[in-house]
Amino acid sequence: MTDVNQLLQQMTIEEKVGQLVQLATPFFKGATDRGEITGPMVQMNISENDIPLTGSVLGASGAKETMNIQKVHMEENRLGIPLLFMSDIVHGFKTIFPVPLAIGCSWDLELAEKSASIAAKEAAAAGVHVTFAPMVDLSREPRWGRVMESTGEDPHLNSEFARSFVRGFQGDLENDDSKVAACVKHFAAYGAPEAGRDYNTVDMSEWQLRENYLPAYKAALDEGCEMVMTAFNILNGIPSTGNEALMRGILRGEWKFDGPLVSDWGAVKELIPHGVAEDAKQAAEKAMKAGVDIEMMTACYTNHIQELIKEETLQESIVDEAVLRILRLKKKLGLFENPYRGASEAKETEAILTDENREAARELAGKSIVLLKNDNVLPLDGRQKTALIGPFSTSTDILGPWSWGGSPEDTITVDKGLSNYLDSDQLFISEGCGIEQGTDEQLQAALEQAENAEVIVVALGEHSDMSGEAGSRADIRIPEVQLNLLKRVKELGKPVVGVLFNGRPLDLREVTANADAVIEAWYPGTEGGNALADILFGIVNPSAKLTMSMPYAVGQVPIYYNRYNTGRPKDAPDAPERFVSQYLDIPNEPLYPFGYGLSYSQFEYGELTLSSDQMTQDEQLSVTSTITNTGSTAGEEIVQLYIRDLAGEVVRPLKELKDFKRLHLEPGESQEVVFHIEESQLRYYHANMEHKSDRGEFEVFVGTNSRDNKAKKFRLK
Ligand code: GLC
Repeated sequence: MTDVNQLLQQMTIEEKVGQLVQLATPFFKGATDRGEITGPMVQMNISENDIPLTGSVLGASGAKETMNIQKVHMEENRLGIPLLFMSDIVHGFKTIFPVPLAIGCSWDLELAEKSASIAAKEAAAAGVHVTFAPMVDLSREPRWGRVMESTGEDPHLNSEFARSFVRGFQGDLENDDSKVAACVKHFAAYGAPEAGRDYNTVDMSEWQLRENYLPAYKAALDEGCEMVMTAFNILNGIPSTGNEALMRGILRGEWKFDGPLVSDWGAVKELIPHGVAEDAKQAAEKAMKAGVDIEMMTACYTNHIQELIKEETLQESIVDEAVLRILRLKKKLGLFENPYRGASEAKETEAILTDENREAARELAGKSIVLLKNDNVLPLDGRQKTALIGPFSTSTDILGPWSWGGSPEDTITVDKGLSNYLDSDQLFISEGCGIEQGTDEQLQAALEQAENAEVIVVALGEHSDMSGEAGSRADIRIPEVQLNLLKRVKELGKPVVGVLFNGRPLDLREVTANADAVIEAWYPGTEGGNALADILFGIVNPSAKLTMSMPYAVGQVPIYYNRYNTGRPKDAPDAPERFVSQYLDIPNEPLYPFGYGLSYSQFEYGELTLSSDQMTQDEQLSVTSTITNTGSTAGEEIVQLYIRDLAGEVVRPLKELKDFKRLHLEPGESQEVVFHIEESQLRYYHANMEHKSDRGEFEVFVGTNSRDNKAKKFRLK
């Protein structure tokens, strides 16, 4: 068994610095896509001799490629220190699952864990050791393109999903080479960029940061997440990647995290344009002192650490700590004994895109697709002549922005999904327009097809590069040409089902006004067409619930359910007409609230009963609600529990999600749901950053979403 401390003693300073460098695949001999690297190497001021010293590889994929790269490396690295292979396996590798914002809407923690476990198995067989996931950046900003990568706007739910994803990716990492190390990102508060513009300024109070934006990172680390990635943004004036208070203060000091911390792509050198480093040397100094161990895809460390040590600006002991964290992870992964770990072409062929993987993707997609409106149109009975219209009718662009490992030919498109339920003479397909442009001929052709049908499914949305990284949009509506198509189809006077494929909450007013039913499918992944068809034809009864508020208009943004009341709430019983917190031109409420999603069943909630109207610090209080399926279809309901602290030392949200349960109810069936409340769920950050509860009055809500629920009060004595 390698003694990493002894190994460190044998390393030259060049070899130590090499471990802190991460380069993309093309830099390495043995890479299949070894393109033109002379230019990039010159630009980074590195040479061929630096490559064998490198510590980790970014973006390799495929057992053959990773094994080739590792083989050459082990021949050329003097001390035989193996490479770490890291890639973005965010919601699937070859079998692509729904984007995380969709997975969040499933509220299914077990299936989320299973999706990560399947992704890990496919990736590990392809030679990946670390995935740059889960992304847990809480966001209330639908203008920001990366909301699709998060599970939404709630700190409790995001924390639960963070734990599930880490468990799924890592499992028993040291003894199971079908697992990969997880790297939680982007630390911290990347999801709150001013004006929703990616990479933009983040500025918030420490109270807000700790109350809402930090919990999910901490949850991932409490679950044993092996790595952390820094965020591009500044936080309260200092770039995260050079932020000692954030990295050495909170992450390493308070939370005792001692795993490797990797910068985001180029984020070390970006300290220069941020304006906190004069040059690459100062950027290297600041990032090292902040505790960033691995520099991704720039060479400030390579070019300047030795100089910084020589002039005693930087202690070599800081470099040693960083190297040891990296060597410990390599040891934990067993790479010193077997540098190829789980990589195997045979295993890879066997592991990817199996029927079981596809079935899991189809099941999770079916639980992630949200039914927003249904004026007695759905489910379809399979006998009607159906027109499938719109740019997503046959599109394979339903995998989402982080689906580089997936492939169009493996993707079940909407038309393929519908053809499971309709004969070819029942299904008429016509695009009608593109994502952002269209011609009269396209429109006319689509209207002609729609004329022949009894029901019309209109598949609309955003191209996947309209969200994701650097995918911010100021106008969060469906492009005009698609809305025009929908309106023209609606004029035919037939039942219209609008289906959305998009990476963010949108302003859906014109869609809901021109469709009898509306389904939010997000980017549902490899099995998306099958999952959507299962819902359209009622084989799957929709149960998904929004985990980000769907705004009425972008002018409301940021909008979120766990908001504060203000001193002049518009909905106060005695509220005056004018002088309240409101807009003159739109409502305060979102179009669809957090936790909202319809079913083909109808669920009725009885009044709440509490085990007592008070509890002490060390007692539990139980809350009971009886839910009845008054519909004619069996269905699943996600029962949500929210709490409000009616008077805190600081203002407290109108509601905070604290628990939820999934119920399966047959038609006419009633079930009693019991939640248990304990004092720890009532704690919050006080002005002095103490995390504790206060005695006083609380209100508990149980319901089908954050707006529609039953309430009762109780006291904490
Ligand atoms: C990108 C993303 C980050 C990703 C990294 C490596 O810029 O911000 O999420 O893990 O680079 O691809």
